Amino acid sequence: MKALSFILLLFISLLSHAQTIVNGVPWFDQNGETVNAHGACIVKEDGKFYLFGEWKSDTSNAFPGFSCYVSDDLSDWEFRRVVLPMQKDGILGPERVGERCKVMRCPKTEEYVMLMHCDDMRYKDPHVGIATSKTIDGEYTFHGPILYNGKPIKKWDMGTFQDSDGKGYLLIHHGSIYRLSDDYRSIDTLVANVKGMGESPAMMKGRDGTYFLLSSNLTSWEKNDNFYHTAPSIEGPWTRQGFFCPEGTLTYNSQTTFVFNDGELPMFMGDRWSYPHQASAATYVWLPIHAEGTKLSIPNYMQAWDATTGKLVDLLSKAKRVKTNRIDISSMDHWTSGADGTLRSNHQGATIGTRFSGGRIAIFGETNKHGAYGKVSITDLEKDKVVHSLLIDFYSKVPDRGLRYISPRLPKGKYRIDVEVTGDRPNWSDKKGYKFGTDNSYINIKDFYLIKE
Ligand code: GLA
Repeated sequence: MKALSFILLLFISLLSHAQTIVNGVPWFDQNGETVNAHGACIVKEDGKFYLFGEWKSDTSNAFPGFSCYVSDDLSDWEFRRVVLPMQKDGILGPERVGERCKVMRCPKTEEYVMLMHCDDMRYKDPHVGIATSKTIDGEYTFHGPILYNGKPIKKWDMGTFQDSDGKGYLLIHHGSIYRLSDDYRSIDTLVANVKGMGESPAMMKGRDGTYFLLSSNLTSWEKNDNFYHTAPSIEGPWTRQGFFCPEGTLTYNSQTTFVFNDGELPMFMGDRWSYPHQASAATYVWLPIHAEGTKLSIPNYMQAWDATTGKLVDLLSKAKRVKTNRIDISSMDHWTSGADGTLRSNHQGATIGTRFSGGRIAIFGETNKHGAYGKVSITDLEKDKVVHSLLIDFYSKVPDRGLRYISPRLPKGKYRIDVEVTGDRPNWSDKKGYKFGTDNSYINIKDFYLIKE
């Protein structure tokens, strides 16, 4: 009987083990640090998922390294290490740009091959670089630029694709698709030139063998409606199709980086950039992507979903709203309340907060074109100590309402969460000097919630 109830309990706990992917909020690793792996890819090995990406900083766009995280469920990520740090000199040396690292295991050599975009700080010296490692999460050795006919590829945004026959491909912005050599260490052939392709290329293969090539328009860190091409083979002919997310959503406020497809639930991976505070405030948009014939689509945005079923998880239905009378607002004069009850302020230093007693506290708010950085801090009131603090971004070109922050799990105690208007704005310009980003410094808070687990 005991054994039976144990099995039953185990079964129930397995069933209820939520492998929830939450979009647009910072994720935390085993040390409570933000999961910092942008322009990422995922490699699956021995049942584990390895996430590689740009280990961004909050202060500079210079390359500090590429990071590696591991997970059993795509939802809880453990930081392994910086697998490729800044090099002493060369194209990934000090004051250089390193972006979009993509890792593949070469079937012939069993080596892990990482390709990436290397550049100078003004994006005027682009190269595709290569690094290799004997182990998936070991330190990678950087070899400089990958060569085609003995010459470097002097282009910027890139992606990779590994076909089911083990062949590796390098995808280059605005058109070129190259097949790698058998050892993945150099380039064999230019196999296609895709007319009308954009930046941030990624590829997936549908069940019937159709190839899909996803890419974005050229808008720097700003989001746009990403689109796709299809072809019956990688060599082509490639046909331009439409958008894979509803037009006007700007790819649900993200830019393509990769499609992870282990044959179960193909998953679109996008970046919700936040310049200049990417390490804290850039987040991820990962969603199930559907391929049917030559149609590719992500029909609905889900803020949270179950990685095993692909189904929506309604975090708010399980959450407890913190009553308004428990919300403290400093310098009330500087907050205005919209018809929907959202409190807004652009007055630097104005703060909104509430007390809570542990668990995971969440912030629900709106991002829009007037939004900017808010500083979240959690104080342990018994120790009178700030235990967690980071910036969140209330800017987006198209408005979006949702959860902006979910704290790490906090043990039972007495805490206070505050969000402060920093006056610090996400603004930047592209190579041509065109200005992007917010026109004000608002933060917009609707509610605080306690997430039940
Ligand atoms: C685009 C690229 C990114 C990065 C930024 C820099 O968004 O896709 O990888 O290079 O531009 O502005």
